[in-house]
Amino acid sequence: MIDPKIAIPLDKRAWVTSLLPQQIVIVSSVDADGTPGIAPKSWVSMAAFEGPILGFGCNVTHHTYHNVRATGNFVINVPPARLAEIIWGMAERHGADRIAAGGLTLVPAMRVSAPWIEECVGHIECRRIDIKYMGNEVFIFGKIEHVAVSSACLTGAASERYAHLDPIFFLEEKTYGSLDAARQVGSIPPLRRNMFLVKLGPFAVAEDLLERHAHYLATLRAEGRLVMAGPFLDGDDGLIVLKAATSEEAQALIARDPLVTAGCPFSLRPWQRTF
Ligand SMILES: Cc1cc2nc3c(=O)[nH]c(=O)nc-3n(C[C@H](O)[C@H](O)[C@H](O)COP(=O)(O)O)c2cc1C
Repeated sequence: MIDPKIAIPLDKRAWVTSLLPQQIVIVSSVDADGTPGIAPKSWVSMAAFEGPILGFGCNVTHHTYHNVRATGNFVINVPPARLAEIIWGMAERHGADRIAAGGLTLVPAMRVSAPWIEECVGHIECRRIDIKYMGNEVFIFGKIEHVAVSSACLTGAASERYAHLDPIFFLEEKTYGSLDAARQVGSIPPLRRNMFLVKLGPFAVAEDLLERHAHYLATLRAEGRLVMAGPFLDGDDGLIVLKAATSEEAQALIARDPLVTAGCPFSLRPWQRTF
């Protein structure tokens, strides 16, 4: 079957299905006086094994550019998807205000003056080696000096480790993507443990209760507990997939759902994701 292709503008902002979903990181830096700043970036890429060297795109009007020029170092912090809303909220603030509003904690790095963001899962410390200028835009290259990652990313099956990393990808139009699963080529996908299927209902739901239920699910998603959820289209019931360490923990999460406190029946079963 032929898949017809349609020309779209060259401007990446108009690629409303982004052709290059890129991982979101938070770059931390300090100015000449040691005052820290943080900024989300998605134009980030490895550039060379030898070095090793990575680079990220920035604008000459940005504090990050001025800081990196002044001090010659920066940290690429790798946030989990639960920080997505905080990351988009950053645009409205600057400097210390941005850090405080995000509830983020800065801690000293190992080899450079730019700090780590504690809430992130990994940190790549870099020393600036080059800046390529393209008008007002620049690509800053850094030699990687130190890399550290959460211990949970170093043990267990690939699916578990990537579930902990939980990377976020920049898509256009205030949209972000997350990693559904880590699959190994040529093999049956590794199992994802600690998952629970919750069947909610049947229950007749008033609009305001539904809103509180949706709000609660959004909280669970932000905490990294909710994998997916939604109503069945042919009834008054729905399905929730939760991540929890034990069935008691999953039970406690569901017991706090406003639908359940209003009397909605539920059943919960441990489940192992295979495909
Ligand atoms: C998800 C996300 C990704 C972004 N990626 C980039 C990027 O790759 N390059 C860039 O220059 N700005 C990017 N921005 C915009 C900057 O983070 C923003 O302009 C910020 O205010 C710059 O902060 P600073 O002046 O403290 O460096 C991004 C913003 C968001 C929310």
